[in-house]
Amino acid sequence: MTAMKEVTYRLRRFDPAHDEAPHWEEYRVPFTEGMTVLDGLWKVKELHAPGLAWRSSCRMGVCGSCGMMINGKPGLACNTQISELGGSVVAVAPLPNFAIIRDLVPDLGPMFDAHRALLPYLLRDDTEEQERPTAEYWQSPEELEHYLQFSYCIKCGCCMAGCPTYATDPVYSGPMPLTQSHRYNADGRDGGFAARKVVLFGERGPWRCHYAGECSRVCPKGVDPAKAIQIMKRELVFSYLRLRKQKCPSAATKRLEGVGRREGIPEAPVRTV
Ligand code: FES
Repeated sequence: MTAMKEVTYRLRRFDPAHDEAPHWEEYRVPFTEGMTVLDGLWKVKELHAPGLAWRSSCRMGVCGSCGMMINGKPGLACNTQISELGGSVVAVAPLPNFAIIRDLVPDLGPMFDAHRALLPYLLRDDTEEQERPTAEYWQSPEELEHYLQFSYCIKCGCCMAGCPTYATDPVYSGPMPLTQSHRYNADGRDGGFAARKVVLFGERGPWRCHYAGECSRVCPKGVDPAKAIQIMKRELVFSYLRLRKQKCPSAATKRLEGVGRREGIPEAPVRTV
């Protein structure tokens, strides 16, 4: 790629207080080697459009707030180098399949509602132990492998933006909520499959997935939601046929002898809530 001195940002702008519909605007900003799409947005804001709105926080691909369409593909603005895009025009739009709140800010509320409805947390009967823990729920490295990949999700919404089913079917829960539901179903410490399958067998469950696989292609964390959804379908069919092995959530276990905190690592602070 030839050395660039400037880069053109083509931004989808929309202010519901003044605009009837979203429109594109262009801005030129200086380019420096190593600049990310997010850095460029800050430059646009500083030099041309102080009212430009988007979400970002960590600037290191961890918080999941800067998901947006970058040159037509969902991705993280902080994790995308301008030089990787192979041109001097960076087109940025809000994630599709969501209403737009303003400029590059999508309304992710429906995604988080669906996430909540699929009980994305450990469900167990021992409430007392969970409220006032006395030990750990022990788990082997092999058991961890069953869900580790799916636990890398940062809820950025890129998979939801890439999913053609979610684009046309407002009832479908979408890849992120379903993958996170499977992440807990596959966790050896969890006993919540029976509660989750009430929703999963219904019309919000995985059955509407056509296995386009776009969710896995665009996921910036390598989570592979398409795989999680296919495993989930299989588990639900086994459960319907009463062939699914009912797992008991692992019991709370005292720390193993000889396994302890390494020297120099301080204890966790006392819980305040
Ligand atoms: Fe946190 Fe991009 S700003 S993931």
